[in-house]
Amino acid sequence: MEHRSLTFIGAGNMARSIIAGLVNAGYPTKAITASSPSAHPGDVLSTDYGIQTTRDNLHACQAADVIVLAVKPQLMAQVLSDLSAVDWSSKLVISIAAGISTHRLCEMAGTTLNLVRVMPNTPSLVGQGMSGLFASSQVTDADKRYATALMEAVGEVCCVDEEAKINGVIAAAGSAPAYFFRFMEAMQQEAIRQGFSDEQARQLVQQAAKGAAEMVVSNTDTTIGQLREQVTSKGGTTAEALRVFDQHGIGDIVAQAMQAAVSRAEQMEQEF
Ligand SMILES: NC(=O)c1ccc[n+]([C@@H]2O[C@H](COP(=O)([O-])OP(=O)(O)OC[C@H]3O[C@@H](n4cnc5c(N)ncnc54)[C@H](OP(=O)(O)O)[C@@H]3O)[C@@H](O)[C@H]2O)c1
Repeated sequence: MEHRSLTFIGAGNMARSIIAGLVNAGYPTKAITASSPSAHPGDVLSTDYGIQTTRDNLHACQAADVIVLAVKPQLMAQVLSDLSAVDWSSKLVISIAAGISTHRLCEMAGTTLNLVRVMPNTPSLVGQGMSGLFASSQVTDADKRYATALMEAVGEVCCVDEEAKINGVIAAAGSAPAYFFRFMEAMQQEAIRQGFSDEQARQLVQQAAKGAAEMVVSNTDTTIGQLREQVTSKGGTTAEALRVFDQHGIGDIVAQAMQAAVSRAEQMEQEF
């Protein structure tokens, strides 16, 4: 990827994960700055990763080609209003804030931004993220490629051509780790009821989940439904368990849950 000068506004969990991914991928540390109120010279970002840290958002933005907005959504309006002296015209802005539309971000900045909106998910924190990416109409292909490569430092990227689809990304990937956690939690509880210790139950469930996910990832020519059929013998234990899921409408439950996530994302967009 290109090594443009890059500033993160906000140096929390998500910014740190992306920075770690970029540095591990060989991005020059001199080209990366992180700005946040509690930044200090001994910060792990400067000691471990060798990047620049500052508390001066304005200077950090003015000095960079690319700005990643990585503060909490409720702080974004204040942060962008404090940056009104920045000439945004030649800069690429990448927002990873959940629930703030490109239209609102431009309103907050008081100008049209060359803006890419990214929706990462929590596994980005361990380099296994799944991000959705929407680029506003004036963003060049080169800028879009750069933003995509940036998020690939912490996982995979799905580019969407309409901003509304970001809410679908939230339903299918952003919120999805918690769906799997909930499922695994229920399995662990039942395994404990059946006599396993907490640790054994966790080991059984987490390794089964990891193995199943690996099988999906490493067999892209096989549909997920086919993988399920391949491990389901007629009249066997798996078929019996799946019969119970289907009897309780697992497909409808998942569909309704994902639709609820989209509705909530739409509501949240009105809140900022
Ligand atoms: N974590 C996730 O899994 C996830 C997933 C999807 C989207 N996101 C989005 O990513 C963004 C960051 O989330 P996060 O989890 O990394 O949050 P976080 O850990 O709370 O980090 C927020 C950072 O913003 C800094 N900050 C606060 N006020 C600031 C200001 N005025 N100027 C500059 N920096 C300021 C904080 O600094 P101090 O610590 O010094 O206050 C902190 O470094 C959010 O918008 C969130 O919606 C996160």
